[in-house]
Amino acid sequence: MAVLDINKYPAEVLKKKASPVTRIDKDLLILIDDMIETMYAAPGVGLAAPQIGISKRLAVIDISSKESEVPLIVLINPEFLKMEGRIEFEEGCLSVPEYTAKVDRAERVVVRATDREGREMEIEGEGLLAIALQHELDHLDGILFIDRISPLKREFFKKRYLKAHKAGK
Ligand code: NI
Repeated sequence: MAVLDINKYPAEVLKKKASPVTRIDKDLLILIDDMIETMYAAPGVGLAAPQIGISKRLAVIDISSKESEVPLIVLINPEFLKMEGRIEFEEGCLSVPEYTAKVDRAERVVVRATDREGREMEIEGEGLLAIALQHELDHLDGILFIDRISPLKREFFKKRYLKAHKAGK
């Protein structure tokens, strides 16, 4: 397994709509393991393939904390079957370091996806899991959480962020 580099805003790959996974083969399983290791190393509660430069519809989520153990989720070609309610939550993203903002999300979602064994599954998420699912599925459509905040807040963010990260270029 390997820890992969995470692409940061404004990388182009983060804005692209990812294409479906067409085959679950050995290479894909290695990629999934690397994504899991990268997520834990960061650490983050989720990671989508575009974040490591692969424009495929693939994501991993683990919202476990000290207080609650939740199974790791591998999502291949996920899609929403249901979204309901409304919740506001302070989000961050491994691709947008050192910035968080409140984002409006659905409170409950149902997602259909394929797991790493190729089985179709349905996941019901509420609260933090619902938010993580929406955040990661957004990545597969080229959407970052900063695309879901007000235009004014986004302008402030861009100015500050690009200034802070210019030194590295
Ligand atoms: Ni993210």
